[in-house]
Amino acid sequence: MTTSSAPGKVYLFGEHAVVYGEPAVPCAIERRARVTAERRDDELLRVHADDLSLDGFTVEYSGSSESKPDVAVSESLIDAAMGYVDAAVEQAREAVAEERGEDVSEVGFDITIESDIPLGAGLGSSAAVTVAGIDAATRELGVELSPETVADRAFQAEYEVQSGEASRADTFCSAMGGAVRVEGDDCRRIEAPDLPIVVGFDGGAGDTGALVAGVRQLREEYDFAADTIEAIGDIVREGEQALAEGDIAELGRLMDFNHGLLEALGVSSRSLDRMVWAARDAGAEGAKLTGAGGGGCVVALDETDETSTALRFTPGCEEAFRAELDRDGVRVEQ
Ligand code: PMV
Repeated sequence: MTTSSAPGKVYLFGEHAVVYGEPAVPCAIERRARVTAERRDDELLRVHADDLSLDGFTVEYSGSSESKPDVAVSESLIDAAMGYVDAAVEQAREAVAEERGEDVSEVGFDITIESDIPLGAGLGSSAAVTVAGIDAATRELGVELSPETVADRAFQAEYEVQSGEASRADTFCSAMGGAVRVEGDDCRRIEAPDLPIVVGFDGGAGDTGALVAGVRQLREEYDFAADTIEAIGDIVREGEQALAEGDIAELGRLMDFNHGLLEALGVSSRSLDRMVWAARDAGAEGAKLTGAGGGGCVVALDETDETSTALRFTPGCEEAFRAELDRDGVRVEQ
């Protein structure tokens, strides 16, 4: 039995603009998904998830969606979780075949997922499950992959599950940990100081595909939208500089700008805006939505507990927590 874990992430800067070739800076946070893989004697894949911000579910199947049993959670959520686990196990089998020249396509697993990353809320839960799943399943078969290889395989898995709508940002950040810079296929880790990250979660989730499509349409229709996307790219470049200098106040100011531009692109929501303003009013250095938007999470920077306290009293905010920068990416758990 092997357990691996991988962190979730927030976008300090650059979501949406990254889709059009601008750079983005996501950063791993100390909230993890843990995946345990245990080799079975048959080819079945049995998935158990206890804590995906749900009541928990157990699914037993052999890789075909027809054999999914009736369980009391939303079908789409099961499909999503199963899709990522399935794709992760497939990548693990391919990796083992490549590294050892051994056909393991018929090897089954019992997979257990535990996660303290809210699902579909812009914190990279699916990437963390995929990354940890590939690492655990390959190690269970005696193969140790580099974090870069896990990142690459996790990207392939997400790309497949999301029908080509995935950027490398989430999977690379989760596999490598720390702050990373992603521009097209060029992904690298960058230096960052300890960041006093606070996350506010409205309990919901946006529809990433629809939000990305909305921005694409706006960009085609209006020059100002294309300019806004380029301006986000400029903020990211300024942000990289501020990160390198450890200038938290400047980072906060730039996050505020970034949120304003995302709002202009129509991807914020009332609850996200409320949480952003509550954080600013509480004295945060800056605050913005993180991820696709439409609902989900905001990220703020605040050394004190004022922001998380204020967020807990903000209408629409379901959960607020401190989540420091996690310098560890994927790792095996003892
Ligand atoms: O909500 P998330 O964490 O899946 O982030 C989406 C980020 C986008 O830039 C909107 C899309 C993408 O694939 O980069």
